Amino acid sequence: MKVSEALASRRSVRGFLDKPVDPNVLRRVLTLAGRAPSGGNLQPWHVAVVTGRPLAALVDAVAARIAAGAAEPAEYAVYPANLPEPYRSRRFAVGEEMYGHLGIPREDRAARLAWFAANYRFFGAPVGLFVHTPRFMGPPQWADLGIWLQSVMLLLREEGLDSCPQEAWAMWPRSVRAHVPIPEEHILYAGMSIGWADPAAPANRTRAERAPIEETTTFLGF
Ligand SMILES: Cc1cc2nc3c(=O)[nH]c(=O)nc-3n(C[C@H](O)[C@H](O)[C@H](O)COP(=O)(O)O)c2cc1C
Repeated sequence: MKVSEALASRRSVRGFLDKPVDPNVLRRVLTLAGRAPSGGNLQPWHVAVVTGRPLAALVDAVAARIAAGAAEPAEYAVYPANLPEPYRSRRFAVGEEMYGHLGIPREDRAARLAWFAANYRFFGAPVGLFVHTPRFMGPPQWADLGIWLQSVMLLLREEGLDSCPQEAWAMWPRSVRAHVPIPEEHILYAGMSIGWADPAAPANRTRAERAPIEETTTFLGF
């Protein structure tokens, strides 16, 4: 697979088959993803990969907390408050497209919340991954985590696997820590669902648009 094919075929998958992932494949992917660049070669990513019983225990625990109406102090604010344009519309558009495929109207808040909770089942994926970093790390190191995450996601494509990066997990840091060894001095940046895409899952029909480069890029001196 060419890099361009991996990039073009990667999308956030939110419905997976009940089919295990070979741990050797994960080791290969994570080993190569470690080649991702980072400022000063700090390699600030710390990773936990979960499957089987520990994953089921975590997912059940969060489901019980949600059902009980509980909440936890989030690790960080996922979006800036009062997101201005054009970001607001972009966020709105991808949400509307996904909920359209799911047949959930805007007014049905309960159904939207129930669907959001699917994040905390890793969308049915057999593998969940968490990436965390020491709290003293700043925005440059967080950017490094993003580069690493994309490296993982592209390499998964080469293996025929799909993924969904998930900041949603930053809303349940205590529950995650109760099941996954993430030190208190580290911030939980994101989770990630990993597995085999379910082609029949309606959410997987979502194709998030991108702004044309004319909107985002300035060329000088050409
Ligand atoms: C760091 C990061 C965190 C994300 N967190 C979530 C999440 O918690 N839940 C979710 O369903 N999608 C999440 N997404 C997926 C984005 O919504 C998605 O990448 C965006 O809409 C573009 O769509 P695409 O990935 O299908 O191209 C996240 C993406 C990134 C890069």
